[in-house]
Amino acid sequence: MKLIQMTKPSSFSEISTKKIIQMNDVWTSYDSKDYTLKGINLSIDRGTNYAIVGKSGSGKSTLLKLMNGMMIPSKGIIKVDYQTPNMKNKKFKVMMHKIGYIPQSLGLIKNITVLENILVGALPRLGTVQSLFKIFPEDEIQEAKKILKLVGLSGKEDRKAYMLSGGEKRRVAIARAFMQKPTILLADEIVSELDHVTAREIMNLIADAQKRMNLTAIMVHHDMQLALEYANRVAVIKDGEKILEIGVEGDKIVDFQTGNLSTQEIMELYSDEPKK
Ligand SMILES: Nc1ncnc2c1ncn2[C@@H]1O[C@H](COP(=O)(O)OP(=O)(O)O)[C@@H](O)[C@H]1O
Ligand SMILES: [Mg+2]
Repeated sequence: MKLIQMTKPSSFSEISTKKIIQMNDVWTSYDSKDYTLKGINLSIDRGTNYAIVGKSGSGKSTLLKLMNGMMIPSKGIIKVDYQTPNMKNKKFKVMMHKIGYIPQSLGLIKNITVLENILVGALPRLGTVQSLFKIFPEDEIQEAKKILKLVGLSGKEDRKAYMLSGGEKRRVAIARAFMQKPTILLADEIVSELDHVTAREIMNLIADAQKRMNLTAIMVHHDMQLALEYANRVAVIKDGEKILEIGVEGDKIVDFQTGNLSTQEIMELYSDEPKK
């Protein structure tokens, strides 16, 4: 077992435009009685891989839903690329198309083909009529075919989604998200039920895309080992609280958990624009 070593919260004193997600003292509730998330503070650097790990029911999926505006906090501040995730916020609604969200269930359409599922990722940028009738321009079809190859699904474009293996379904869901040309990828336990080798193939696919597109990936994982292997930071959630934020440095696991953000960072959370 690797050593856990405490460090000074030095990373929190430096702020800049590189923070793509910030949460300050965020609380959520589904029933207005109990809180699901309790006082979450976190800060995610652009282009990094951030993992969320915790037992079932600890609040991991809720945390992802906050980041794409599917849920609104009861208390606290959230900024996603300097915008408050909220459907009433027009700037966020525009930005939302660049957030690739893969739910635990993957959300594939079973009876349509692999290629058609990937093209779903292009719908937000098409006109109403085009998207209503799913009329895709040729350049979008070519783009989908390119991504299909990239995720290792060559030759499977005409296969119906329900005919695919677990690993292949993940590849389609990732390809659909890539089709959005995302700046942020939110993935909820997409490698959890896969064998060791397939899970790593899928993670490598995401790691490659991150390098190519400066993509920020925020991924919920079941397996701490895998999370530490791929993530720059791993947040550990227990009963709605972030109890640890760890990462591998050299041959050590370092704990970056600090509790609160610096005053300067809190001030930045109140502003809608990045500081110059
Ligand atoms: N739609 C919902 N309505 C009511 N309670 C919910 C809902 N979704 C999740 N919860 C509850 O919130 C808690 C955290 O859920 P979730 O974020 O899904 O946890 P995890 O993803 O870590 O398993 C659980 O107690 C769960 O039962
Ligand atoms: Mg979950």
